[in-house]
Amino acid sequence: MGGLARRVSYLKAFKHRSNMEVPTLFVDAGNIFSDERFTAGQIPTDVMSKNKWVVKAYGDFHHDAANVNSADLPYLGELFKKEDFDKRVEEFPFINKLVSANVRPIDDAHLAPVPYVIREITLKRGVPGHKIRIGIVGFTESMPIGPNPDNRETVRGAYRIDDPFEAAKRVLPELKSKTDFIIALAYMPIDMSQRLATENPEIDTIIGARQINNTEDVQSVNRATIAYAYNQTKHLGELRVYVKADGSIENQVNRFVALDSDIPDDPAAVEVVTTAHNDFTNEQNKRSQETSSLIQSTSLLGAAESPFAGVETCAVCHQSEFEIWERTGHAHAMATLERKKQQFDTECVRCHVVGFGKGGFQSLTSTPQLANVQCESCHGPGRAHSESPAKGYGLMVTPIGCVACHTPVNSPDFNFVTYWPKVRHGAGEAAPE
Ligand code: HEC
Ligand code: HEC
Ligand code: HEC
Ligand code: HEC
Repeated sequence: MGGLARRVSYLKAFKHRSNMEVPTLFVDAGNIFSDERFTAGQIPTDVMSKNKWVVKAYGDFHHDAANVNSADLPYLGELFKKEDFDKRVEEFPFINKLVSANVRPIDDAHLAPVPYVIREITLKRGVPGHKIRIGIVGFTESMPIGPNPDNRETVRGAYRIDDPFEAAKRVLPELKSKTDFIIALAYMPIDMSQRLATENPEIDTIIGARQINNTEDVQSVNRATIAYAYNQTKHLGELRVYVKADGSIENQVNRFVALDSDIPDDPAAVEVVTTAHNDFTNEQNKRSQETSSLIQSTSLLGAAESPFAGVETCAVCHQSEFEIWERTGHAHAMATLERKKQQFDTECVRCHVVGFGKGGFQSLTSTPQLANVQCESCHGPGRAHSESPAKGYGLMVTPIGCVACHTPVNSPDFNFVTYWPKVRHGAGEAAPE
């Protein structure tokens, strides 16, 4: 739900500025739920709670439709269970605005999302009173596995992902007969969106997501205008559609609105986001306590057996490196998450600690000594070295080792040449490769 409060505030301000005269649609091209830890067919309770808040917040704050992608499917299976479906829709009406023309259930216990929704808007400018029926349809690619693009996972959770191009041929003529304007939400790389536009003249606009995209320029392919979402929730894509006096489309202009501190948080949305955070932090607390008691009882990997020693141990012999490190942001990376109340969110934790998922940090309850980005986050597990120190341990390949965490998404300004001096220590120069 990153950026929700600012997105909502921007939208409200926009409606206000335009005297409520410009109809707005608020859509999401997909990948809205969290499935990072979908293993053994089960979504952990904290992730369930997070996803539940996403459906609720999207409904509460006027989203008109959201597409789903392969990562959304595990949670989709929870929302679209036939059992108690009506009750769930009553609680979360947004369920009926989740669209996909090419995912379908593989069993009888689940329902399919609708392929499209139709919204009617009335123009106040241009041609006052003119009504336009807008169809919003969703398409997604199957999930690529590994570098070979032909290697794809088509079944995930309770759903199968059909070929989006065949689905388009099936659904679009029908939708065209019911609407004046068609928006396709497409979770797929740009070349696939272009093909979608080339093969389907019914489409007026494609709003895509999936590829890192930093350009506001739209593309025109066949009849469609293609705009891609910025690669993160820190920006809102705003596509303005200008209508001529005869009701036809004049042009479509895209821009990205940076959701930075210039845009205030919407108080109502903040309240929801805060409640949601508290809710899933509680779940995560519960879960991390359960896991740590499990670890204690089965002594899977107690701290003493971890291959990671922790910075206190390194400091005994490497005092000067320690003193430099202590003054860097790396030493406070967990405090940063605590300020955000996300210290139990493993999606965040993995880059803000030592050796997550590799026998290092597990949780603040069971392995507090491995919180923060410490020596061993870069130099690798150092217990053996601490016990019998010698040369040859811990040489780090830069900048490759840095960008494991300093990804374009989480550290957009990363540049080894400017970053290394801020954390430099040791005698040697770490030359960029
Ligand atoms: C008991 C003392 C001791 C502890 C504890 C210790 N080191 Fe060392 N470390 C040394 C010594 C001594 C050397 C230098 C060996 C040499 O130059 O011959 C060294 C070398 C290194 C090197 C350079 C290796 C090389 O080939 O030049 C790195 C990196 C390093 N230590 C990191 C760590 C980290 C990280 C920890 C904590 C996990 C740690 N050390 C814990 C004593 C220690
Ligand atoms: C295990 C993940 C991880 C690795 C590996 C990593 N970083 Fe970081 N880095 C972080 C995180 C997380 C922060 C943010 C810390 C905070 O402020 O909470 C950060 C912050 C920084 C900062 C800004 C904080 C400051 O002290 O000014 C610099 C500079 C930096 N890293 C440089 C590097 C360089 C250079 C490398 C490679 C040699 C590197 N990092 C490797 C996770 C990592
Ligand atoms: C892929 C690794 C990675 C993940 C995952 C990650 N972070 Fe970070 N985070 C970083 C790095 C690297 C920095 C330092 C960025 C810089 O200074 O360039 C950072 C910096 C930060 C900062 C301080 C800088 C800022 O943008 O204000 C906050 C707050 C933060 N992260 C919170 C989070 C939260 C919350 C999550 C989970 C939703 C998360 N991080 C997930 C790597 C990560
Ligand atoms: C952000 C990643 C990062 C962190 C955190 C980090 N180091 Fe390093 N360290 C490096 C890099 C890069 C070098 C340069 C030499 C190299 O390329 O390995 C280096 C060099 C060293 C050296 C000197 C090796 C030599 O041959 O000169 C020692 C000793 C060392 N680090 C110990 C530590 C200790 C102890 C800590 C924790 C207090 C620590 N480092 C934290 C990345 C890191």
